[in-house]
Amino acid sequence: MGNKTYQIAVIPGDGTGGEVVREGIKVLEAASRKFGFSMQFTHFDFGGARYLKTGEVLPDSAADELKQFNAIFLGAIGHPDVKPGILEKGILLRLRFELDQYINLRPVKLYPGVETPLKDKTPADIDYVVVRENTGGIYTGVGGVTMKGTPQEIAVQSCVYNRFQVDRCLRYAFETTRRRNRKMTLALCGKTNVLTYVFDLWERAFHEMGKKEFPEIKREYYHVDATCMWMVKNPEWFDVIVTDNMFGDIITDLGAMTQGGMGIAAGGNINPEGVSMFEPIGGSAPKYTGKAVINPLAAICAGGMMLETLGEQKAATAIEDSVKFVTANKLKSLAAGKMGYNTQQVGDLVVENIK
Ligand code: IPM
Ligand code: MN
Repeated sequence: MGNKTYQIAVIPGDGTGGEVVREGIKVLEAASRKFGFSMQFTHFDFGGARYLKTGEVLPDSAADELKQFNAIFLGAIGHPDVKPGILEKGILLRLRFELDQYINLRPVKLYPGVETPLKDKTPADIDYVVVRENTGGIYTGVGGVTMKGTPQEIAVQSCVYNRFQVDRCLRYAFETTRRRNRKMTLALCGKTNVLTYVFDLWERAFHEMGKKEFPEIKREYYHVDATCMWMVKNPEWFDVIVTDNMFGDIITDLGAMTQGGMGIAAGGNINPEGVSMFEPIGGSAPKYTGKAVINPLAAICAGGMMLETLGEQKAATAIEDSVKFVTANKLKSLAAGKMGYNTQQVGDLVVENIK
């Protein structure tokens, strides 16, 4: 103990990404000092500014280069002067795919002192994780367009899954449920009443695996629309939710709002056998760029998740405990510009309270 060094690739990206990543690194460094390991940060300039200057979205060598690191810490991707889709697909999605980060892990957790729009719900009620499949589904880009620009234009975008992808995601979700050791309940979120091919595959695989390998874990199934309903009405029902890529994208924004918004919501793009990438799940918030009003807690929590994945559980817990202290005792609000502190001061508060 005491001499481990982690190599971390940092992609600040666009907009406020750099500001929040700076606070995240500050907190990671404080935690590593306290818990006896060190981290070396190597910055990469992938993002909108680089694309506008060079015309290149992501060098072909990027994924191979990033594979040399222990983990990746990402700020935000999305630039107001670049057409939507180019950077998102060309950087974020491409890295998720090329690094085979097949899990997107998104905790939905209400911290003390944080205001939730869900009436009468407390931190005891909102504490679950969404395991979003992260490499398949509609995101594969399978499809096409024909007769473009004519009144007969046809556009197809297919939801594509194979058994292998479904199984590996389900296994991760079952294992996460077992590791959490809380309600021991895994909920599959799908749409078996309409997507009768894809979610039939998910549902059969879910029950087969559960019955055979995880008999102690209770299995539940919810349609995605009903999932949204219960996430609002009875979030305390949930422990772990597993779902496909598209539904996972949508329900985790809803989940984020119930835990206090984009200022606090963190996620990990995880390859359990490879290199994972951690990010605040909110966007680049261009209108707040450079104003020091953005909330860095989501990036700080993403850093905590990164430490947990690296095996530095104590340091990860210390960061989370400090964040809880700061939300409970310091911040007026989690909203940009309304925190009662600027971006750096929030980072400092978390650093000061790492115990
Ligand atoms: C997210 C984002 C991305 C997604 C976009 C930016 C491509 O919304 O991480 O949730 O859809 O996965
Ligand atoms: Mn999203």
